[in-house]
Amino acid sequence: MKVLGIETSCDETGVAIYDEQRGLIADLLYSQIDLHKKYGGVVPELASRDHIRKTLPMIEQALTESGSKPADIDGIAYTAGPGLVGALLVGASIAKSLALAWDIPALGIHHMEGHLLAARLTSEPPDYPYVALLVSGGHTLLLCCENPGQYQLLGESLDDAAGEAFDKVAKMLSLGYPGGPEIAKLALAGDPNRFKFPRPMTNRPGLDFSFSGLKTFTLNTLQVLEQATIQDKADVAIAFQTAVVDTIRIKCQRALEQTGLSTLVIAGGVSANTELRRILQSMADKRGYNVYYPAPEFCTDNGAMIAYAGFERLKRGQVEDYAINVKPRWPMTDLPVMS
Ligand code: KG4
Ligand code: ZN
Repeated sequence: MKVLGIETSCDETGVAIYDEQRGLIADLLYSQIDLHKKYGGVVPELASRDHIRKTLPMIEQALTESGSKPADIDGIAYTAGPGLVGALLVGASIAKSLALAWDIPALGIHHMEGHLLAARLTSEPPDYPYVALLVSGGHTLLLCCENPGQYQLLGESLDDAAGEAFDKVAKMLSLGYPGGPEIAKLALAGDPNRFKFPRPMTNRPGLDFSFSGLKTFTLNTLQVLEQATIQDKADVAIAFQTAVVDTIRIKCQRALEQTGLSTLVIAGGVSANTELRRILQSMADKRGYNVYYPAPEFCTDNGAMIAYAGFERLKRGQVEDYAINVKPRWPMTDLPVMS
């Protein structure tokens, strides 16, 4: 079975082909970062228009590069939500139109399930059940994954997602967009002992997150410094990153203890953060847990994760009609279990 995957939920156009026998045979990514950079964040209308320009040529390129013809494709997977409505509609319309023309099924995939399943794009995927931490620009979720497609929500962010907090703090520090990698880079030059930032919601029970207070704490620290030097900014960057990473570590540890599970999967854009990976790995090593994360190129948005998630669902016979529907808001716990 060969599945074409299309990701257009935000500011990356991703197109990939997953082959049951050979794995990924095409994987193309076009980032709109340069388009949105000067605005300091994603401009939805510009994102949609750019997806329109890029998606079809990228599908043609993926077919050519993998030596595939349309007749070789057995199904199309596209991101149906959550995400920017206009951007999602571009991918959904193209997926459904091609599926109708090629007489094959098209299936809407939950973007965060795509992120989660990206950790299975390896020769030794984790065995179910496991705890998953999904940390992206729009979501911070702790889930108990009992079976394929069966997700129980353990905790989530009550305000800003982890990636969003990175992006907003980067803006305060006059760094570029997206902010996560910029903060990580600047933090390398920071003094870890100068500032101690709070670890929000860790001194009370529960698995929810809140990063908005940490963002305000960062802003207040910068205001006290007035004319912050590069060194001041690096010291703030490391204090902020350490606080986010430590907060996430405490919640993951708590989720593993609470569920009695011993496997943790982390995915989503922020899981590319080297410090987060290092701290979670060290926590797991000390306690005898296993940690899995996607390859760095599959942490941030990509088409491969959608093609693979589509393959997992289409091979089990999941279908939908040709109506073009997207779900900008879509709880992951509503997904059909993969039987
Ligand atoms: O998963 P993703 O590509 O898109 C969404 O689904 O939102 O995540 C993007 C988020 C951005 O907020 C970005 O700043 C963050 O992931 N990010 C990082 C790193 N790389 C990307 N955050 C911290 N450290 C990184 N290395
Ligand atoms: Zn994403």
